[in-house]
Amino acid sequence: MKSLFLCLFCLQTLSASNYPADISYMVADLKYSKEEGVKLCEVQHGILSTFYGDVWLNGDNGKICPKIVEAFDQFPIKKWYVHSQVNFKNLIDTFNESPFWIRESSIKTFTNSDRFKKHALKPPEDPSDINSYHAMLYVRGSSLVDPDHFRKICPGVLLIDAPTHRYWIDKYTMTRLFMGDPKLVKIKPEWGLYPKVYSETLAKQITDDIPSDIYVIKPRSAFLGKGVILVAKDELDSVLHYILTPSEKLKSDPDGAYNHWNKDQHDSFLIEKYYPSDLIQVEDKWYQPTMRCAFVMIYNKNKIEVRFLGGYWMMPLKAEGETGTLNECKKAYCKAPYFVPASDEELQAIGKQLEETLPLMYEKMLNDAD
Ligand SMILES: Nc1ncnc2c1ncn2[C@@H]1O[C@H](COP(=O)(O)OP(=O)(O)O)[C@@H](O)[C@H]1O
Ligand SMILES: [Mg+2]
Repeated sequence: MKSLFLCLFCLQTLSASNYPADISYMVADLKYSKEEGVKLCEVQHGILSTFYGDVWLNGDNGKICPKIVEAFDQFPIKKWYVHSQVNFKNLIDTFNESPFWIRESSIKTFTNSDRFKKHALKPPEDPSDINSYHAMLYVRGSSLVDPDHFRKICPGVLLIDAPTHRYWIDKYTMTRLFMGDPKLVKIKPEWGLYPKVYSETLAKQITDDIPSDIYVIKPRSAFLGKGVILVAKDELDSVLHYILTPSEKLKSDPDGAYNHWNKDQHDSFLIEKYYPSDLIQVEDKWYQPTMRCAFVMIYNKNKIEVRFLGGYWMMPLKAEGETGTLNECKKAYCKAPYFVPASDEELQAIGKQLEETLPLMYEKMLNDAD
C-alpha cells in the first residue's frame, strides 16, 4: 500500500515541477504528543540553523551534521559553499571532512574562478538526474539577486535549496504552505495573520477565529525566540496592547520576547494555537519539551523523497509547576544544559510522520505553489 502511495505521488510531481531536480536541507522545531502527533512550530532554512544541543549531547560535530553531509554526498559531485553564510560551525567542520565540499570566501571568488565556469556552463545531460550536474552551490536565499537567472546562465550548477528560497525568512510564507491539504493542515497548529494595529476587538477576533486556552504570538521574521510570546487567553488583550503600542517601557523591556516588537518591521504578525508535547522527566521534575530536528528533501529522477535526519529535545528554562511565565515554562530555552536526547521510539514516530507529510509541502515548493 505504501509503495502504491509513493508511486502515485511521484507520478503527480513529475508533470508539474518548476525545478528539474533539487536537494534542499531544512530544520524544524516541533511539539509532539502521542495524542496529537507532530505540530510544527516552525520550518526554517538549514543554512541559518544550529544544533548546539546535538553537539552538547553527543560530542564532536554531533550526530546530525554528519548525516546532513552524508545525504548530500550520496551524490558525488563537488559542492561549493560560502563559509560566512553557513551559521553553524560544526556543519562547516563536517563539510571540511568531506572530499566533496569546497570552501569559498564569497560568491564572487567562486563565480569568477575558471574551475567554476568550466562546471557551470556545461548543461547536465539529464537535468532531472542530480548526478548529471557538474557542481552544487550552497548559499543563502538572500545572496543571489535573481536565482532563476542564475540557474539559467549556470545550467551545470545545482543550486542547493533553490525551491525553498522563495520562503526566505518569512514565517508567514512558510506557514502558508501548510494550508489546503488536510495532512499538512494537521501538522501545523491552527494559525492566523493579523494586522499589527491594536484595537479593543483584536483579541476577541483572535479567540473567535482560533479557540484555545494558550496562544503563541510570533513575529514574521525573527529568530532565537525573539518576539515569541506564549500567552493565556485572558491576558491576550493586554499583551497585544503592550506590544502593539509604542512606549518607552516596551523599548527598554529587558526581555527579547517583548522588546523585539519595538523594532519589528512587518505590518502584520502571526498567532498560533499553543500545542504541548508529552512531558519529559529529568531527575524529579517534568518539563515541556520542543524538538529540533533536521531533514533533507530530494527531487531526483522525478521522485520526491524527504529524509528525516534526527533531532533532540530542547527544554524550557523552568519545570512544570515551578513559578514562572508561560515562556519560561513551555518555550524552548535553547541553551546548555537544557537539552535531552530523544528516544529511538520518539525519533521513529516523529520521523515517520514527517517523511509521510512533508513531501506534500515540498511538492508545493517545487511547483512554486503557495
Ligand atoms: N504553536 C506552538 N505551540 C507550542 N509552542 C510553540 C508554538 N510555537 C512556538 N512555540 C515555542 O516557542 C519556541 C520559539 O518559536 P519558533 O516558532 O521556533 O520561533 P523562533 O524562530 O524564534 O525559534 C519554539 O521552539 C517552541 O518552544
Ligand atoms: Mg525555532
